[in-house]
Amino acid sequence: MPRVVCLPGDGIGPEVMVEATRVLQAFGISFEEHPFGGAAIDGWRKPLPPTTLEACRSAEAVLVGAVGGPQWEGGQVRPEQGLIQLRKELDVYANLRPAVGEGVDLVIVRELIGGLYYGGSGELADGRVFDTCVYTRPEVERIARRGFELARTRRSKLISVDKSNVLETSRLWRRVVTEIAPEYPDVELKHGLVDSVAMWIVMHPGEFDVLVMENTFGDILSDVAAGVTGGLGLAGSASLGDSRPGIFEPVHGSAPDIAGTGKANPTGMLRSLAMALEHGLGEAGLARALEAAVDAALETTPTPDLGGTATTREFGDAVIAALEVPVR
Ligand code: NAD
Ligand code: IPM
Ligand code: MN
Repeated sequence: MPRVVCLPGDGIGPEVMVEATRVLQAFGISFEEHPFGGAAIDGWRKPLPPTTLEACRSAEAVLVGAVGGPQWEGGQVRPEQGLIQLRKELDVYANLRPAVGEGVDLVIVRELIGGLYYGGSGELADGRVFDTCVYTRPEVERIARRGFELARTRRSKLISVDKSNVLETSRLWRRVVTEIAPEYPDVELKHGLVDSVAMWIVMHPGEFDVLVMENTFGDILSDVAAGVTGGLGLAGSASLGDSRPGIFEPVHGSAPDIAGTGKANPTGMLRSLAMALEHGLGEAGLARALEAAVDAALETTPTPDLGGTATTREFGDAVIAALEVPVR
């Protein structure tokens, strides 16, 4: 049984995944690749074929490249549905999205398997189209606890993000977070409205430690946070439930505009792999070694998104060269 299941997906997904698998090889960690996303729609008519799902269930960690692209837009079956289904199947409700840069070190804790993405949606007879945002108290409570617990291991500052001045689900969110806060007296809790928090991340990103929020807000603000720390090429993520396996994927998408050009920055993928090593495989030493090698490659061998000229492969070469594999 391979320890890691890799789902390369579409666009630059397979390009950045290759660099992750080279690191797995260097570490002597077994892995297996499976079809997913648009690539799976083309061959198997489903974005998440049953054999792929079964392989994911038996792995210690699942690595995802990216899914989607113009060729599947407007179709009955879409690549993104595979990702949304996989997250639910593995019950990974807590999506950690760190953004680290000059004077910035924050983590967005995004609720991942509720809200607008999973509520009822459709079209009514009169032509109106709807998506529904639904949350239950236990769903809010478990993700809020993740936020408090993570803050506790860092600078003990938590911002809960909502739109409680308008949305009913946000009022539930704020109530539940406020109710459990006394259990974490060491954590300084503040509430913020999503629009002003978005502005504040752009203007003063250094002031944040941990932010916790519902699914859609987390999708948007994690791209904003990536943007203020150097761009989407840099951001990795870990999606965790209460048991393994977790899903580890970059924040970016399939980037059709640069797919096939060798310009993709594999840092987001490699940082996701570092999180998989730590949270999925219990290999914190290897995770630190990989992070250090990626930081070294960012200095010596930057890709075009960072103003450099290195290709995806050259960046990967620099990471492998800088890897000091610790003795286990
Ligand atoms: P995107 O994240 O793919 O790209 C946004 C911009 O960032 C593009 O200009 C792209 O070139 C750049 N970029 C992204 N990753 C980069 C990297 N590693 N190195 C250098 N530059 C990078 O977002 P999009 O263009 O809005 O979406 C494209 C497709 O990806 C859509 O089909 C969308 O649904 C899908 N998507 C998938 C995921 C996922 O699989 N997790 C996430 C986001 C979007
Ligand atoms: C992300 C992506 C996905 C999301 C899409 C592709 C379903 O944008 O992981 O940020 O919205 O969760
Ligand atoms: Mn997104």
